[in-house]
Amino acid sequence: MKIAICPGSFDPATLGHIDVIERAARIFDRTVVLVLQNRDKACSFTPEERVAMLRRATSWMRNVTVEQSSGLLAKTCEGMGDVVIVKGLRAVSDFEHEFQMALMNKKLNEKLDTLFLTANERFQYISSSVIKEICTYGGDVSGLLPPEIHDEVVERLRRERTCRTM
Ligand code: PNS
Repeated sequence: MKIAICPGSFDPATLGHIDVIERAARIFDRTVVLVLQNRDKACSFTPEERVAMLRRATSWMRNVTVEQSSGLLAKTCEGMGDVVIVKGLRAVSDFEHEFQMALMNKKLNEKLDTLFLTANERFQYISSSVIKEICTYGGDVSGLLPPEIHDEVVERLRRERTCRTM
């Protein structure tokens, strides 16, 4: 059984993420969305919250499950079976970092390949960070977030801003 691993920090998951997960699920027998830590990012949601939101947003995809790990991606993939990492590539600016991570994961786990899917043009400009920024200042992010998690994300980020400015 061929398994796609879709790794990310998903803080929060965007429609761009869901698009890549859905396309991976169509190509592979099984897809595991893996919530991981990114040391370069300050997260607004706990890993458990991100997992719960991803489960709601992907519940309609029958061969998709959501898991989390606090360790290395390459190590976590060991023992998960016949896996391939699947990531979405937006603009050229994504490339350098993604290329480095793909090579490093291969170095850490010789069997691990990374497959890049070109991001859907409708979602090229979407990122979790930009969505958080817009939400925090009260902007409209409908059509950018999965509808199943839209209200929870918006409420939390607006509350976060109120707390910071008090
Ligand atoms: O969605 P992101 O934040 O771009 O995803 C990056 C992520 C979480 C996949 C990456 O930071 C990661 O793999 N973190 C787990 C720790 C790890 O394996 N780091 C080495 C990467 S080469």
